[in-house]
Amino acid sequence: MSVSKEFLKGLPKAELHLHLEGTLEPELKLRLAQKNHVDIGQSTIEEVKASYQFDSLTSFLMVYYPAMNVLQDEEDFCALAVDYLKKAKDHNVKHCELFFDPQAHTSRGVPFETVINGYYKGIEIGREMGVDAHLIMCFLRDMSADSAMETWKAAQPYLNKILGIGLDSDERDNPPLKFAEVFDLAKKKGVHVSMHCDIDQINSIGHIYDVIHKIGVERIDHGTNIVEDPALVDYVVDHKIGFTCCPVSNSFVTEDMKGREMVYLLQRGALVTVNSDDPAYFQSYISDDYYALATKYHLSEDDMIQIAKNSFNASWISEEAKKRYIRMIDEYVASVRA
Ligand code: ADE
Ligand code: ZN
Repeated sequence: MSVSKEFLKGLPKAELHLHLEGTLEPELKLRLAQKNHVDIGQSTIEEVKASYQFDSLTSFLMVYYPAMNVLQDEEDFCALAVDYLKKAKDHNVKHCELFFDPQAHTSRGVPFETVINGYYKGIEIGREMGVDAHLIMCFLRDMSADSAMETWKAAQPYLNKILGIGLDSDERDNPPLKFAEVFDLAKKKGVHVSMHCDIDQINSIGHIYDVIHKIGVERIDHGTNIVEDPALVDYVVDHKIGFTCCPVSNSFVTEDMKGREMVYLLQRGALVTVNSDDPAYFQSYISDDYYALATKYHLSEDDMIQIAKNSFNASWISEEAKKRYIRMIDEYVASVRA
């Protein structure tokens, strides 16, 4: 029996791979462009959508970064977060750990505190709405290691607002070890760590080896090229290192969803999770990603329940909270099947 969209939407879940800047919908982009007098070169929703032309990570990022110019003050960052969290609530996301890219804003003159205070205000509003949201600060890997270190220093007064750090942007010529020093410092401070290992990059498997064995990440963002090395798959299963997979995003920036790899990892017992990455650009929020994967790869309700349970088990919450959310999933499934 195929899995219904309604069942997947109602399934309690955690979102662990979501770029707040990737939730900038055309409506908000146009409103902020007008408010802040920023010329974005488009004036209608159709024109904004028509500019979404990409078929690789690099071409996606070329559309993605210029759009951020419309984000100027605390209120703008707060509005962006709140808009996403309303959608998250609608998709029954109970807990989320959200990426943000401070350097994409500080590099164009927006102060670090404007970014973090704005996003954090949004997160507090989200919590009042019943979505337990947290921030993961990402470094842009196509900027220098010194710039990442400066950003880490700027973040020190705000560490109580930052659950973890990550690494995103263009992976080509920007391997994980470029950032070993700043990740080491963060780990010593007890901050959680993950890194993107984007799909089908030059030396993807070498990067995956390094994030696991040299950086010591707790999760890998994307990372399905790991299937090329069975010993590494054994290692992540044994050490419960999670994968934050994004099937619809993959289908935009590579030639397919990479669902075959996700299903293989799932069957091997890896903590595979499903997420939306940059939902405004790929026009797919988390339940749509669940549905796309389930329908294309003929996954059962039980497979999708496992993925939802994995999302809490791979998250950075207490063991007690994990148990509570997993009980919530069991109760939901029992009520739907009654
Ligand atoms: N920034 C936003 N989305 C990204 C992705 N999928 N990979 C790397 N950097 C990103
Ligand atoms: Zn991403």
